Amino acid sequence: MVQSYSRQRQESPSREPALRVAITGGTAGLGLALVREFSRRGAAIAFVARGRERLELVAREIPGAHGIIGDLARKEDLHPIALQVTGRLGGLDVLINNASRERVEMPAAARAG
Ligand SMILES: NC(=O)c1ccc[n+]([C@@H]2O[C@H](COP(=O)([O-])OP(=O)(O)OC[C@H]3O[C@@H](n4cnc5c(N)ncnc54)[C@H](OP(=O)(O)O)[C@@H]3O)[C@@H](O)[C@H]2O)c1
Repeated sequence: MVQSYSRQRQESPSREPALRVAITGGTAGLGLALVREFSRRGAAIAFVARGRERLELVAREIPGAHGIIGDLARKEDLHPIALQVTGRLGGLDVLINNASRERVEMPAAARAG
């Protein structure tokens, strides 16, 4: 089941509406770095991952970011995730589809060469 977590952020007055960014795989590695950087730059963020524990940690760390539990590899999760993302952000400007099943490994031949 797709669920979401977020902590309220104190809104500061701003002339332009925040960029609405969704980042899949936002609880570790590159995705987490992107969540932090877009947040620092004032974007409205939704991020997706399967693991509840890390998702809650990141949602607590970054006020206003919406953490959504879901598995991008499960077809039946995709529509609920999309609905959660657009519902939480009120639309979407940028999708960074970073979640991946496995790391990219260089072939042994390429490493040796
Ligand atoms: N690290 C590298 O050297 C490297 C090199 C080239 C390309 N890349 C690519 O860069 C991207 C990020 O790599 P990374 O090393 O930063 O990954 P990572 O540290 O392993 O983090 C992966 C993130 O994706 C989430 N995730 C994985 N499978 C998911 C799924 N089915 N549904 C939803 N969320 C999922 C993980 O959380 P949960 O496990 O809780 O779901 C986690 O938040 C990947 O696409 C990878 O292929 C990485």
